[in-house]
Amino acid sequence: MPGQEQTTIPLIIDCDTGIDDSLALLYASASPEAEIVAVTCTAGNVDARQVAENTRAVLELAGRSDVEVALGREAPLVRDLVTTPETHGPHGIGWAELPPPTMPLSSRHSADLIIQEARRRPGAITLVTLAPLTNAALAVLREPELPLLLRSLVVMGGAYRSPGNTAPTTEWNVSVDPDAARVVFHAFGEPAIVSEREARGLPGRPLALGLDVTERAKMLPEDLGRIASQASGDAAIAKARARTADAPAPRNPVVRYLADALRFYMEFHSRYDGFYGAFIHDPLALAVALDRSLVRSEAVAVDVELGGTLTTGETVVDWRRVWHRPANVDVAVEADAAAFMERFIERVGQLAARRS
Ligand code: BDR
Ligand code: CA
Repeated sequence: MPGQEQTTIPLIIDCDTGIDDSLALLYASASPEAEIVAVTCTAGNVDARQVAENTRAVLELAGRSDVEVALGREAPLVRDLVTTPETHGPHGIGWAELPPPTMPLSSRHSADLIIQEARRRPGAITLVTLAPLTNAALAVLREPELPLLLRSLVVMGGAYRSPGNTAPTTEWNVSVDPDAARVVFHAFGEPAIVSEREARGLPGRPLALGLDVTERAKMLPEDLGRIASQASGDAAIAKARARTADAPAPRNPVVRYLADALRFYMEFHSRYDGFYGAFIHDPLALAVALDRSLVRSEAVAVDVELGGTLTTGETVVDWRRVWHRPANVDVAVEADAAAFMERFIERVGQLAARRS
């Protein structure tokens, strides 16, 4: 609105970049209300050092070489790291190739960074996790007051009302570091913390987006065409490049990146999910961190299976309240995926136009 000041939302983004993580970074970079305080890197889709490379290269593509990028613990809390080159490609960004980043890596450890920034601006920062919860867990183990210091915690992770995507009942981010997810859900959802946060006018519980919600955000070659048409007008080339490397490379660097990264992700989804397109889990979670009205949630008791023979990493939800435990997580149950996709296409299209 003319004359009205835009309120900014300070964000720390924790990611395991990753194709959809990279789209979330582009979306954050394209969102005028987002103040990206820092990006913290976690091992997951690829190893943590590769995550840090990809994250910085993508931020440079977006023109955000000013953002602090930190590395954290390079393995899950107690288990061995598993990565997923099958889903995100050998380097985590599909078939895309970006110049090696020139921006430095922060000297701060991710967990320290999260704690220090939260202490510096109590009640201001939203932490959005798009990765295994290793850094968030370490941070809250080191600083138990963290849940009172953050404005909110938004988590992409879990399979609350749907099958898993990693094992029959488990979602990737929780599955890679279930111990960390359990630490976070308990620490942030502890009843005394929830009441104190509510008394301070903050959202009481962490908000989690599981697969049933994030899989509503589907990106198709046509959507890439719409992004391209805002940037350089070569929608047909972008759509073709999302399907085959034989098509010419789009001239716009952001559109070229998106086409080459997404082609790998779309090929993966066409093998496993029956459509030529891609679920963009992480950008939806990022958008919800900026605008909670995109989802409706229910407060429920959630725990994480750590000792199953078939189900380790499952997010177990007490929908029927048989545990009689207080709710510790707000689980998203509905999302306005259409509104989100429109916003994503418009904002990333404008970013691409600026980066021509
Ligand atoms: C999550 O797993 C990762 O592969 C994606 O980046 C997303 O964060 C979806 O299960
Ligand atoms: Ca991710």
